[in-house]
Amino acid sequence: MTVRTVGVLGCGLMGSGIAQVSAAAGYKTVVREVNDGALQAGLARIRKFLTDGVAKGKVTEDAQSKTLANLTGTTSTDDLKECDIVIEAIVENLEEKRAIYDAVEAVVRPDTIIASNTSSLCITELAASTGRPDRFGGLHFFNPVPLMKLVEVIRALTTSEETARTLTAFAASLGKEPIAAPDRPGFIVNRLLVPYLLDAIREYERGLGTIEDIDNGMKLGCGHPMGPFTLLDFVGLDTTYYIANIMFEEFREPRFAPPPLLKRMVLAGYHGRKTKRGFYSYSST
Ligand code: 3HC
Repeated sequence: MTVRTVGVLGCGLMGSGIAQVSAAAGYKTVVREVNDGALQAGLARIRKFLTDGVAKGKVTEDAQSKTLANLTGTTSTDDLKECDIVIEAIVENLEEKRAIYDAVEAVVRPDTIIASNTSSLCITELAASTGRPDRFGGLHFFNPVPLMKLVEVIRALTTSEETARTLTAFAASLGKEPIAAPDRPGFIVNRLLVPYLLDAIREYERGLGTIEDIDNGMKLGCGHPMGPFTLLDFVGLDTTYYIANIMFEEFREPRFAPPPLLKRMVLAGYHGRKTKRGFYSYSST
Protein backbone atom coordinates (compact mmCIF):
# COMPACT_ATOMS: atom_id res chain seq x y z
CA MET A 1 0.00 0.00 0.00
CA THR A 2 1.23 3.51 -0.78
CA VAL A 3 0.73 5.75 2.23
CA ARG A 4 0.06 9.42 1.52
CA THR A 5 -2.30 10.58 4.23
CA VAL A 6 -2.00 9.72 7.90
CA GLY A 7 -4.55 10.21 10.66
CA VAL A 8 -3.61 10.50 14.32
CA LEU A 9 -6.20 10.09 17.06
CA GLY A 10 -5.25 12.10 20.13
CA CYS A 11 -2.95 15.12 20.28
CA GLY A 12 -1.54 14.54 23.76
CA LEU A 13 2.13 13.93 24.48
CA MET A 14 2.38 10.85 22.25
CA GLY A 15 -0.22 11.80 19.61
CA SER A 16 1.32 15.23 19.01
CA GLY A 17 4.77 13.66 18.67
CA ILE A 18 3.48 11.06 16.21
CA ALA A 19 1.62 13.71 14.19
CA GLN A 20 4.78 15.85 14.13
CA VAL A 21 7.10 13.10 12.84
CA SER A 22 4.50 12.02 10.28
CA ALA A 23 4.09 15.56 8.92
CA ALA A 24 7.87 16.07 8.99
CA ALA A 25 8.31 12.92 6.88
CA GLY A 26 6.10 14.47 4.18
CA TYR A 27 2.75 12.81 4.88
CA LYS A 28 -0.43 14.86 4.86
CA THR A 29 -1.33 14.42 8.51
CA VAL A 30 -4.69 14.98 10.16
CA VAL A 31 -4.67 14.93 13.95
CA ARG A 32 -7.96 14.64 15.80
CA GLU A 33 -8.72 15.61 19.40
CA VAL A 34 -11.96 15.52 21.38
CA ASN A 35 -12.24 19.27 21.82
CA ASP A 36 -10.63 22.45 20.56
CA GLY A 37 -8.82 23.22 23.84
CA ALA A 38 -6.97 19.88 23.81
CA LEU A 39 -6.28 20.24 20.07
CA GLN A 40 -4.80 23.73 20.38
CA ALA A 41 -2.63 22.62 23.34
CA GLY A 42 -1.30 19.70 21.28
CA LEU A 43 -0.64 21.82 18.18
CA ALA A 44 1.12 24.42 20.37
CA ARG A 45 3.40 21.64 21.71
CA ILE A 46 4.36 20.74 18.12
CA ARG A 47 4.99 24.39 17.16
CA LYS A 48 7.15 24.87 20.27
CA PHE A 49 9.23 21.75 19.56
CA LEU A 50 9.87 22.95 16.01
CA THR A 51 10.68 26.52 17.09
CA ASP A 52 13.07 25.21 19.77
CA GLY A 53 14.57 22.90 17.15
CA VAL A 54 15.22 25.87 14.84
CA ALA A 55 16.78 27.82 17.73
CA LYS A 56 19.07 24.83 18.50
CA GLY A 57 20.02 24.53 14.83
CA LYS A 58 18.50 21.03 14.67
CA VAL A 59 15.52 21.89 12.44
CA THR A 60 15.72 24.12 9.35
CA GLU A 61 13.14 26.87 8.84
CA ASP A 62 12.17 25.14 5.60
CA ALA A 63 11.54 21.82 7.41
CA GLN A 64 9.57 23.67 10.09
CA SER A 65 7.24 25.33 7.57
CA LYS A 66 6.85 22.12 5.49
CA THR A 67 5.97 20.14 8.62
CA LEU A 68 3.35 22.70 9.68
CA ALA A 69 1.95 22.88 6.13
CA ASN A 70 1.41 19.09 6.14
CA LEU A 71 -0.44 19.20 9.44
CA THR A 72 -4.18 19.75 9.98
CA GLY A 73 -5.95 19.66 13.33
CA THR A 74 -9.60 18.68 13.70
CA THR A 75 -12.18 17.66 16.25
CA SER A 76 -14.18 15.62 13.73
CA THR A 77 -13.47 11.99 12.77
CA ASP A 78 -15.09 12.75 9.36
CA ASP A 79 -11.87 14.58 8.41
CA LEU A 80 -9.97 11.26 8.57
CA LYS A 81 -11.80 9.77 5.59
CA GLU A 82 -8.86 10.12 3.16
CA CYS A 83 -6.36 8.47 5.51
CA ASP A 84 -4.37 5.41 4.45
CA ILE A 85 -3.18 4.76 8.01
CA VAL A 86 -4.84 5.96 11.23
CA ILE A 87 -2.72 5.79 14.39
CA GLU A 88 -4.61 5.85 17.65
CA ALA A 89 -2.91 7.45 20.66
CA ILE A 90 -5.80 8.15 23.03
CA VAL A 91 -6.23 7.16 26.69
CA GLU A 92 -5.49 3.55 27.69
CA ASN A 93 -9.14 2.58 27.99
CA LEU A 94 -10.54 -0.32 25.97
CA GLU A 95 -14.08 1.08 25.73
CA GLU A 96 -12.89 4.50 24.55
CA LYS A 97 -10.61 2.89 21.99
CA ARG A 98 -13.46 0.69 20.71
CA ALA A 99 -15.73 3.75 20.37
CA ILE A 100 -13.15 5.71 18.38
CA TYR A 101 -12.40 2.72 16.10
CA ASP A 102 -16.14 2.46 15.33
CA ALA A 103 -16.26 6.16 14.47
CA VAL A 104 -13.16 5.90 12.26
CA GLU A 105 -14.32 2.76 10.47
CA ALA A 106 -17.57 4.51 9.60
CA VAL A 107 -15.66 7.03 7.42
CA VAL A 108 -12.39 5.46 6.16
CA ARG A 109 -11.89 3.14 3.16
CA PRO A 110 -12.01 -0.63 3.74
CA ASP A 111 -8.25 -0.93 3.04
CA THR A 112 -7.22 1.75 5.57
CA ILE A 113 -4.94 0.36 8.27
CA ILE A 114 -5.61 1.22 11.90
CA ALA A 115 -2.69 1.06 14.34
CA SER A 116 -2.62 1.58 18.09
CA ASN A 117 0.18 3.23 20.08
CA THR A 118 -1.00 1.43 23.23
CA SER A 119 1.78 0.51 25.64
CA SER A 120 -0.27 -1.92 27.70
CA LEU A 121 -3.40 -3.27 26.03
CA CYS A 122 -3.55 -6.50 24.03
CA ILE A 123 -3.21 -5.78 20.29
CA THR A 124 -5.17 -8.93 19.36
CA GLU A 125 -8.06 -7.82 21.59
CA LEU A 126 -8.04 -4.33 20.03
CA ALA A 127 -7.87 -5.81 16.51
CA ALA A 128 -10.80 -8.12 17.28
CA SER A 129 -12.91 -5.15 18.33
CA THR A 130 -12.72 -3.70 14.79
CA GLY A 131 -14.22 -4.88 11.53
CA ARG A 132 -10.69 -5.19 10.07
CA PRO A 133 -8.65 -7.46 12.37
CA ASP A 134 -6.22 -8.20 9.50
CA ARG A 135 -5.64 -4.49 8.81
CA PHE A 136 -4.81 -3.63 12.42
CA GLY A 137 -1.53 -3.68 14.35
CA GLY A 138 0.48 -2.03 17.10
CA LEU A 139 2.89 0.86 16.45
CA HIS A 140 4.48 1.70 19.78
CA PHE A 141 6.46 4.96 19.84
CA PHE A 142 8.66 6.24 22.68
CA ASN A 143 8.61 9.52 24.53
CA PRO A 144 9.75 12.10 23.36
CA VAL A 145 8.60 10.80 19.98
CA PRO A 146 10.57 13.25 17.78
CA LEU A 147 13.85 12.30 19.53
CA MET A 148 13.49 8.58 20.26
CA LYS A 149 14.52 6.41 17.33
CA LEU A 150 12.59 3.25 18.17
CA VAL A 151 9.16 2.03 17.08
CA GLU A 152 7.90 -1.41 18.12
CA VAL A 153 5.72 -3.02 15.44
CA ILE A 154 3.33 -5.52 16.99
CA ARG A 155 1.31 -8.06 15.05
CA ALA A 156 -2.00 -9.23 16.46
CA LEU A 157 -2.75 -12.92 15.84
CA THR A 158 -4.93 -11.66 12.99
CA THR A 159 -2.63 -9.02 11.43
CA SER A 160 -1.91 -9.83 7.78
CA GLU A 161 1.59 -10.07 6.38
CA GLU A 162 0.90 -7.06 4.15
CA THR A 163 -0.30 -4.91 7.06
CA ALA A 164 2.82 -5.78 9.10
CA ARG A 165 5.01 -4.95 6.10
CA THR A 166 3.24 -1.62 5.52
CA LEU A 167 3.50 -0.63 9.20
CA THR A 168 7.20 -1.54 9.34
CA ALA A 169 7.97 0.39 6.15
CA PHE A 170 5.91 3.34 7.41
CA ALA A 171 7.86 3.46 10.72
CA ALA A 172 11.15 3.35 8.79
CA SER A 173 9.93 6.16 6.50
CA LEU A 174 9.56 8.35 9.61
CA GLY A 175 13.30 7.97 10.21
CA LYS A 176 12.67 5.47 13.01
CA GLU A 177 14.18 2.05 13.62
CA PRO A 178 11.31 -0.48 13.63
CA ILE A 179 11.61 -3.73 15.59
CA ALA A 180 9.13 -6.61 15.60
CA ALA A 181 7.74 -7.14 19.11
CA PRO A 182 5.35 -9.86 20.32
CA ASP A 183 1.78 -9.16 21.41
CA ARG A 184 2.63 -9.75 25.09
CA PRO A 185 2.31 -7.17 27.89
CA GLY A 186 5.20 -4.71 27.72
CA PHE A 187 6.18 -5.86 24.19
CA ILE A 188 10.02 -5.86 24.25
CA VAL A 189 11.09 -2.56 25.81
CA ASN A 190 8.64 -2.19 28.69
CA ARG A 191 8.97 -5.92 29.43
CA LEU A 192 12.60 -5.23 30.36
CA LEU A 193 12.35 -1.58 31.45
CA VAL A 194 9.42 -1.82 33.88
CA PRO A 195 10.94 -4.58 36.13
CA TYR A 196 14.16 -2.49 36.24
CA LEU A 197 12.24 0.62 37.34
CA LEU A 198 10.22 -1.36 39.91
CA ASP A 199 13.43 -2.93 41.23
CA ALA A 200 14.96 0.53 41.68
CA ILE A 201 11.98 1.54 43.87
CA ARG A 202 12.11 -1.71 45.88
CA GLU A 203 15.84 -1.41 46.49
CA TYR A 204 15.49 2.28 47.41
CA GLU A 205 12.88 1.21 50.01
CA ARG A 206 15.40 -1.34 51.33
CA GLY A 207 18.03 1.39 51.78
CA LEU A 208 20.26 0.78 48.75
CA GLY A 209 21.04 4.50 48.46
CA THR A 210 19.48 7.92 48.06
CA ILE A 211 17.36 8.67 45.01
CA GLU A 212 20.09 11.00 43.72
CA ASP A 213 22.88 8.45 44.25
CA ILE A 214 20.96 5.62 42.57
CA ASP A 215 20.16 7.92 39.63
CA ASN A 216 23.75 9.11 39.34
CA GLY A 217 24.97 5.53 39.62
CA MET A 218 22.99 4.34 36.61
CA LYS A 219 23.51 7.56 34.66
CA LEU A 220 27.24 7.96 35.12
CA GLY A 221 28.15 4.31 35.68
CA CYS A 222 26.13 2.82 32.84
CA GLY A 223 25.76 5.74 30.45
CA HIS A 224 21.96 5.80 30.72
CA PRO A 225 20.56 9.21 29.68
CA MET A 226 18.41 9.29 32.84
CA GLY A 227 18.63 7.41 36.14
CA PRO A 228 15.61 5.22 37.08
CA PHE A 229 13.88 7.81 39.29
CA THR A 230 14.29 10.65 36.77
CA LEU A 231 12.92 8.27 34.13
CA LEU A 232 10.00 7.23 36.37
CA ASP A 233 9.08 10.89 36.83
CA PHE A 234 9.45 11.42 33.06
CA VAL A 235 7.31 8.41 32.02
CA GLY A 236 4.77 9.06 34.82
CA LEU A 237 4.34 7.03 37.99
CA ASP A 238 0.67 6.45 37.16
CA THR A 239 1.58 5.09 33.72
CA THR A 240 4.28 2.82 35.16
CA TYR A 241 1.89 1.57 37.87
CA TYR A 242 -0.80 0.86 35.27
CA ILE A 243 1.58 -1.07 32.99
CA ALA A 244 3.08 -2.99 35.93
CA ASN A 245 -0.36 -4.12 37.07
CA ILE A 246 -1.25 -5.38 33.59
CA MET A 247 2.07 -7.24 33.35
CA PHE A 248 1.64 -8.73 36.83
CA GLU A 249 -1.90 -9.89 36.01
CA GLU A 250 -0.65 -11.64 32.87
CA PHE A 251 2.61 -13.18 34.10
CA ARG A 252 2.03 -13.52 37.89
CA GLU A 253 5.75 -13.01 38.51
CA PRO A 254 6.84 -10.94 41.55
CA ARG A 255 9.23 -8.84 39.43
CA PHE A 256 6.24 -7.22 37.73
CA ALA A 257 4.38 -6.47 41.00
CA PRO A 258 4.21 -2.72 41.76
CA PRO A 259 6.02 -1.95 45.03
CA PRO A 260 3.91 -0.45 47.87
CA LEU A 261 5.70 2.93 47.62
CA LEU A 262 4.78 3.29 43.94
CA LYS A 263 1.12 2.54 44.68
CA ARG A 264 1.02 5.08 47.51
CA MET A 265 2.71 7.79 45.46
CA VAL A 266 0.15 7.27 42.69
CA LEU A 267 -2.70 7.39 45.22
CA ALA A 268 -1.25 10.62 46.64
CA GLY A 269 -1.25 12.17 43.16
CA TYR A 270 2.56 12.23 42.88
CA HIS A 271 2.64 11.20 39.23
CA GLY A 272 6.00 12.74 38.28
CA ARG A 273 6.81 15.74 36.12
CA LYS A 274 3.26 16.21 34.89
CA THR A 275 1.97 16.82 38.45
CA LYS A 276 5.17 18.67 39.40
CA ARG A 277 5.91 16.03 42.03
CA GLY A 278 7.22 12.51 41.85
CA PHE A 279 10.52 11.23 43.21
CA TYR A 280 11.71 14.79 42.60
CA SER A 281 9.91 18.09 42.97
CA TYR A 282 9.45 20.29 39.87
CA SER A 283 7.73 23.26 41.50
CA SER A 284 10.14 25.79 40.00
CA THR A 285 9.89 24.47 36.38
N1 3HC B 1 14.22 19.80 17.98
C1 3HC B 1 15.19 19.04 17.45
N2 3HC B 1 16.13 18.42 18.20
C2 3HC B 1 16.09 18.62 19.52
C3 3HC B 1 15.11 19.40 20.14
C4 3HC B 1 14.15 20.02 19.31
N3 3HC B 1 13.20 20.80 19.81
N4 3HC B 1 15.31 19.39 21.47
C5 3HC B 1 16.38 18.62 21.69
N5 3HC B 1 16.87 18.18 20.51
C6 3HC B 1 18.06 17.35 20.31
C7 3HC B 1 19.24 18.01 20.96
O1 3HC B 1 19.82 18.97 20.10
C8 3HC B 1 20.15 16.85 21.22
O2 3HC B 1 20.78 16.46 20.01
P1 3HC B 1 22.31 15.94 20.00
O3 3HC B 1 22.30 14.67 20.81
O4 3HC B 1 22.58 15.72 18.55
O5 3HC B 1 23.09 17.04 20.63
C9 3HC B 1 19.15 15.74 21.60
O6 3HC B 1 17.91 16.10 20.98
C10 3HC B 1 18.97 15.64 23.10
O7 3HC B 1 18.40 16.84 23.59
P2 3HC B 1 18.91 17.66 24.86
O8 3HC B 1 20.41 17.71 24.84
O9 3HC B 1 18.22 18.96 24.94
O10 3HC B 1 18.39 16.85 26.07
P3 3HC B 1 19.03 15.59 26.76
O11 3HC B 1 20.39 15.30 26.28
O12 3HC B 1 18.77 15.81 28.20
O13 3HC B 1 18.07 14.40 26.23
C11 3HC B 1 16.18 12.99 26.25
C12 3HC B 1 16.70 14.41 26.46
C13 3HC B 1 16.28 12.63 24.77
C14 3HC B 1 14.73 12.96 26.70
C15 3HC B 1 17.10 12.03 27.08
O14 3HC B 1 17.15 12.46 28.40
C16 3HC B 1 16.63 10.61 27.04
O15 3HC B 1 16.85 9.89 26.06
N6 3HC B 1 15.95 10.19 28.12
C17 3HC B 1 15.38 8.84 28.20
C18 3HC B 1 14.03 8.88 27.57
C19 3HC B 1 13.42 7.51 27.54
O16 3HC B 1 13.94 6.53 28.03
N7 3HC B 1 12.24 7.47 26.92
C20 3HC B 1 11.48 6.25 26.82
C21 3HC B 1 10.49 6.22 27.95
S1 3HC B 1 9.58 4.71 27.93
C22 3HC B 1 8.35 5.00 26.83
O17 3HC B 1 8.19 6.03 26.24
C23 3HC B 1 7.42 3.85 26.62
C24 3HC B 1 6.07 4.10 27.24
O18 3HC B 1 5.25 3.02 26.85
C25 3HC B 1 6.10 4.17 28.76
